[in-house]
Amino acid sequence: MTDYKLLCRQLEIFAEEDPGFVPLLSNASALLWEALPDINWAGFYLVMKKDVAEDDDGSDPRLTAGSDPAASDASALRLVLGPFQGKPACIHIEYGKGVCGTAWAEDATQLVADVHQFPGHIACDSASNSEIVVPIHIMRVCTAEDAKEGSGGACSSAENGLRKTGPVAAVLDIDSPLFGRFTEDDKAGLEAFVRVLEASLSLESPVLGRKPIESAETGAEGLLGATPAPGTPRDLGVLRVELEQTDRELLRLFERRMELSREVGLYKMEKGLPVLDSAKEAQKIRAAKDSLPDELKEYGARFQQVLMDLGKELQQSLRK
Ligand code: SME
Repeated sequence: MTDYKLLCRQLEIFAEEDPGFVPLLSNASALLWEALPDINWAGFYLVMKKDVAEDDDGSDPRLTAGSDPAASDASALRLVLGPFQGKPACIHIEYGKGVCGTAWAEDATQLVADVHQFPGHIACDSASNSEIVVPIHIMRVCTAEDAKEGSGGACSSAENGLRKTGPVAAVLDIDSPLFGRFTEDDKAGLEAFVRVLEASLSLESPVLGRKPIESAETGAEGLLGATPAPGTPRDLGVLRVELEQTDRELLRLFERRMELSREVGLYKMEKGLPVLDSAKEAQKIRAAKDSLPDELKEYGARFQQVLMDLGKELQQSLRK
């Protein structure tokens, strides 16, 4: 059985380094390719506008990933091949066509035990006999309007209360030469994998200096989100999402620090050493100040002191 928990963790680590959709989806397909036995293709198709000519404003319409067929015309959109592992594959898939187009249109995972029985299956590789396709959504930042809707509103299903599930932006597609290769466990594991992608994919455009990919009027921020003009305060929802991510990282580091404090505490206890080491503390406060810009030195010193105080508290508790 594939260790999907580990795969999700590995994906999070890649996302922490760079949540841009090209590097993240590339590494995501590589992770799946390495970890899943008996597959012959693993990758992504992205929802994009059909018109590939440059818009008047210079933006690239192909980057309109995640446009909502309900908000625009589904016939103006199609799936376009994204990062993948395996043999070269079909480049375009229409809305509602094949397994991928069906997953997009129905907004539901397609677990297909025998692709030859699936009406309209698109055979990119004749070796494929079973397939699973999982839709990937844009996670939209909740607006003040959404928040006003209250607990039954659009934001209620958001994992962190700040985002809500938007339209399908892409699909994850995995093929196997075996019949019935994918189980309900694979479905649950791959859906969890996709949730990590949805939570981490960058809200910033990875295309240097390009404009946001979808105008606000359509209601679809798009997979790549908006980049504000220099000097403009950023959207409060976007800022809150970034704050939330930063807090999550800090808490993970905090947990690690407390684990280390515990180990130090056990060592000191065994050697009969005191919990408090004033010289070490003074040195750490100095180091915290040195590593920060002037306006943050005092805050940094206080932050470091609180961390050390909590570590000492935990070490004291070991002695009781
Ligand atoms: N079989 C898919 C097409 C994509 S390839 O398998 C990579 C489908 O029917 O949508």
